[in-house]
Amino acid sequence: MPTYQRPPGTLDILPEDQPYWSRVRTHAIHLAELAGFERLDTPMFEATEVFARSIGQGTDVVEKEMYTFLDQGGRDLTLRPEFTAGVVRAYIENGLYVEVSPQKLFSIGPTFRYDRPQAGRYRQFTQFNAEILGEQDPAADLEIMTLVWDLYARLGLADLEFQLNSTGCPRCRPAYVEGLRAYYEDHSDHICDDCQRRLEQSPLRVLDCKAEACQPLLERAPRIQNHLCEECAQHFADLREGLDLLERRYVLNHRLVRGLDYYTKTVFEVWAAGIGAQSALCGGGRYDGLVGLLGGPETPGVGVAVGLERIVILMKELGVEPSAPRTPEVFLAYLGEAPRRRSLMLMDELRRGDVGVYLAMGRERGLRSQLREADKRAARYTVILGEVELERGKATVRDMKAGDQADVDLSLLVTWLRERVG
Ligand code: HAM
Repeated sequence: MPTYQRPPGTLDILPEDQPYWSRVRTHAIHLAELAGFERLDTPMFEATEVFARSIGQGTDVVEKEMYTFLDQGGRDLTLRPEFTAGVVRAYIENGLYVEVSPQKLFSIGPTFRYDRPQAGRYRQFTQFNAEILGEQDPAADLEIMTLVWDLYARLGLADLEFQLNSTGCPRCRPAYVEGLRAYYEDHSDHICDDCQRRLEQSPLRVLDCKAEACQPLLERAPRIQNHLCEECAQHFADLREGLDLLERRYVLNHRLVRGLDYYTKTVFEVWAAGIGAQSALCGGGRYDGLVGLLGGPETPGVGVAVGLERIVILMKELGVEPSAPRTPEVFLAYLGEAPRRRSLMLMDELRRGDVGVYLAMGRERGLRSQLREADKRAARYTVILGEVELERGKATVRDMKAGDQADVDLSLLVTWLRERVG
């Protein structure tokens, strides 16, 4: 047992896993840029109030999962449990609402939640996040959903579909919530303790309940689709029409409510089997009241966050190829002091010429050990420099695959190697 271990719920992403990560990141950034999203990086911590107000006091995230601390100056701060609140804070603070509208912003980076660690669920995880701020049009919701769909498609994750719902707006939701509450109060003997509590704090969350006892009641519970105001119903119909047109598969799920309080109208997730108990690959939706709530001008918004660890788990599960890692193709071996110095200079020249190179280390090392290392590192060519070669102004270059070797003029070595590995 090593003396120190990483904290529960965190990961070491070892070099052997990095090719998966780089493939996911590269595609995510490329697709975001193709769709006109610009990158925004916000701090990893914000004033606690930013998250508490946005995500909502009664939510699990705010009540149980935030890493909150006082800094040396007594400021109440929290490691970001998600991006949206910080993005909206930055949008307001930097006056992005006076720029071209809508603002299309993406971010990628670590997020922190004191969750119960298990497969696919971590305390530090990575989100790729995209937001469109300043647009009511359901075309914005469609763009957000298309972006994540296309990411999954490019990564070879097929057979997915969206879980889709509309949660209404401050005009139609309260009457629905009252109806739901009344329905539950009439049947309160048949519901679990959690739902009793949810009815008080965030009644919509009863729809999300997994407890056996609550299922029969849930089946017959009032459905929000039948209570949407005209504007929300039209918005939802337009979005579905767009999804049909672009052939992005979805199923209507009247029980999908999401665990964050800021949503209005559209909410969606993508689920996948095989990534542990937590099956959501992404989650998102519309939040038309959030900019106003945080003190900015009333501005509609819609966005999504994708959990990258879960994508990587799924890629492995499905046998999706990662990117080929880029490692140096040339290994520099040498024997003797003058060749060592010349090899140092060669290393410098080669790297400046964009040829990746490993340099053997250790002054008294035998050639055999250096060649063994070159082999382990899977170098394509090993340059061997000894006193005799150096005097002749040449190096021996061994082709590690073919097994043959050639004498190459030192003055031509960079060009020679560039032609072969460039
Ligand atoms: P969320 O559903 O809380 O939404 O998280 C989005 C995604 O982050 C999840 O679908 C999942 O893939 C990943 N995720 C969440 N918690 C964990 C965890 N403990 N371990 C591993 N992965 C996790 C949001 O965060 C919203 N801010 C999304 C959004 C953006 N809505 C509008 N704009």
